[in-house]
Parts: sequence; C-alpha cells; structure tokens
Amino acid sequence: MINRRHLLSMGVSAGAVSAFGSFARPSYAQSGSLKIGILLPFSGTYAPLGEAIMRSLELYTNSHGGKLAGREVSFVKVDDESAPPKATELTTKLIKGEKADILIGTVHSGVAMAMVKIAREDGIPTIVPNAGADIITRAMCAENVFRTSFANSQIGRATGDSMIKAGHKKAVTVSWKYAAGEEMVGGFKKAFAAGKGEVLKDITIPFPDVEFQSALAEIASLKPDCVYVFFSGGGALKFIKDYAAAKLGIPLWGPGFLTDGVEAEAGAAGDGIKTVLHYVGDLDNPENKAFVAAFQQAYKIPPDVFAVQGWDAAHLLDIGLKAVDGDTAKRTQLNAAMAAASFNSPRGPFKLSSAHNPVQNFYLRELKGGKNNYLGLAAAAIADDTVGCKLA
Ligand code: BEZ
Repeated sequence: MINRRHLLSMGVSAGAVSAFGSFARPSYAQSGSLKIGILLPFSGTYAPLGEAIMRSLELYTNSHGGKLAGREVSFVKVDDESAPPKATELTTKLIKGEKADILIGTVHSGVAMAMVKIAREDGIPTIVPNAGADIITRAMCAENVFRTSFANSQIGRATGDSMIKAGHKKAVTVSWKYAAGEEMVGGFKKAFAAGKGEVLKDITIPFPDVEFQSALAEIASLKPDCVYVFFSGGGALKFIKDYAAAKLGIPLWGPGFLTDGVEAEAGAAGDGIKTVLHYVGDLDNPENKAFVAAFQQAYKIPPDVFAVQGWDAAHLLDIGLKAVDGDTAKRTQLNAAMAAASFNSPRGPFKLSSAHNPVQNFYLRELKGGKNNYLGLAAAAIADDTVGCKLA
C-alpha cells in the first residue's frame, strides 16, 4: 500500500496524511459515513474499464485509512451495463433511493449523458471518471459536474494532429456508432483536414458488436495510408487481433483506449499500433512512480488510463471534501474547491477548465511486446474547445 511519503509526494497535504494515521482531528467526519454512489459498468465489454476505475477509488480510500476528509467511506456500487436506457432509473436509485452524498460515474458516453441530466437537476456533486461525451463539459456543463478524464473531441484532435505530423494523408476511420465514436472521429477529422489530410470513409459498427470482417475488407479495397480507430475494452482486443490476422500492412492508429488495458493480451498482434492518450505507464514523474508501484502491489497488474482517471477522481473529491471538513451539505464550497483544484497526477499536471474538463498533456505511444511505450509529448496542456458552456 501507499505510505505517508508516497502520499506527500503525490501532492496530498500533510493534514490529509495525518488523518490517515492516528492523529485525525475530530470533525464532522466522525458523525457518519460518507456514501459514494458508484455508477459503472461491471459487466459487458466495458467491465474491465469500470473495474480499473473502482480499484483506484478503493486504493486511494484505503491508502487514507478508509476515510476521506476524516469520514468513513462507503461505496454503493451499481452496474450500469453500459446500457443508456437503464441510466435514468439507476442514477435515480443512487441519488433518491440510496441517498448518496456524492456520485461517481461512468464509462459509456450515452449512460453518462442520462446520468448527468439527473445530477444537474439534483445538484449532487458528481465526478465523471471516464465518459467523454463533449456535451457534459459544453452545453450541459454544471457547477456540480466534474470530469477527470477527457472530452471525446479533445482526444480525437490530439490524435489527428499526431497522425498529420507522422506524414499520413489518407485515412479510413472505424468506430462504434454512438456519441464516443462519433465525437472522437469528429475531433480527428477536424485536425486531419486542417493538416490537409483526406478521410476516404467513416465505417461504423453498432455498439457493442465485434464483427469486423466487412470493415476489414472495405479497408483493404480503399487502400488508405492509415486507419484511425475507436474501440475499447473487449471490442478493442478483438479488433486488434482481427486487424493483425487480416495482414493489411496499413499503420493502425487511435486514441489510446484501443490498447490500454488489453496490451498484454494483444501480444504480438498489437505490435506497432500508435496511439495518443493522456497517460502512459512509463511517465517519469514521482506521482506516477508511486501510483504504479501501489497499484501493482495491490492488484498484481499495472494500472491503465482508466485506473488513473479513478485515482484522480478520488483525489479531486478529497480536495473538495477537505475544503468543507467532510460536510457534503456545503455543496457550493465543495464544488468551488474542486473547480479550483490543481495537483500533480500520475498523468502529469492536472487542472480543470472553466467547464470542468481536464486541461492536460497528451502523449504519443507505440505498442510493442505487450506494452505501450512512450514516444514523446504529442501536445501540452490542451483544453477541449469548449464553446457555449454556460453554468446553469
Ligand atoms: C465513452 O463512451 O465515452 C468511452 C468509452 C470507453 C473509452 C473511452 C470513451
């Protein structure tokens, strides 16, 4: 587990670290446990993503003696199955039924949009630890809604820029047909067109289908000089294997969700895939070294980007809770403290835009021998191009 020195090196204040030990000061905390409602996929193709986020939420909390801002933490976990039609009922269950103090969720953009609609109406402090739906930090942005991951267009643009810099000119895109795929492809196309690149065709596949043979046949006949792909979790692994088996010889690119969490299982089939992401395991900073060591020790596997986003969700919440001494009824002050938070994350410097989306570095990586390797900084301190975000 993480020790006191690790916590200090990760930007957690000395006060917080003392709360981890036996000198926790008496506070509101001791009057009751803090209930955190968790909406994540624990089944289906995104289950590994939900699991990685949950593991980090628990790791962070356990490393603080099971408490945040002095309050005992209890997690109420709900499996959203990455099914948008179930999101409204499940979110309501957490907020109204379970009376959660805080809401953390989710992975799938469609589920997140329905969740955020309810969270905005209720005012419950909410942290999105993955789903990138642009609208969450654009038109739907709210005082009580925060994201510790990325916006879909933001990462699409960063990836497109790197592909142009690598000299690519003609692309085919392949993605799941829902908000995440559409927006990641949209951001990519903006950057690719700005660099005079041409997209020959956008191929879409219904979520969460994994039948890729006709897409591969189309790519073979179109002969682009690169392929840009959004899949993640189980679907990504299947695509990587099918793509390698098709022996097209065309460079495969995408946002790093394509390879994170599946790199070891991909094996040699993944060799040479280039991705852009706001995290890579071998980032050389003290917060990342401590985080990787702690995660590895706790779960016997290295963390991926989803784990980092979960860790930062807990860290952000911790900062907000400390500002109100654990009193979640003080929502205005809690939200303001999270909005102003700035800390060193395993991914590098972390802060939020006025729309509560991370302003962050993106890294160029190459998968080789079952590991995503750092190739260089793709873009520094990039914000989403948020327009029209008006706090409700
Ligand atoms: C999304 O639905 O926003 C998403 C899911 C998996 C990885 C990245 C984004």
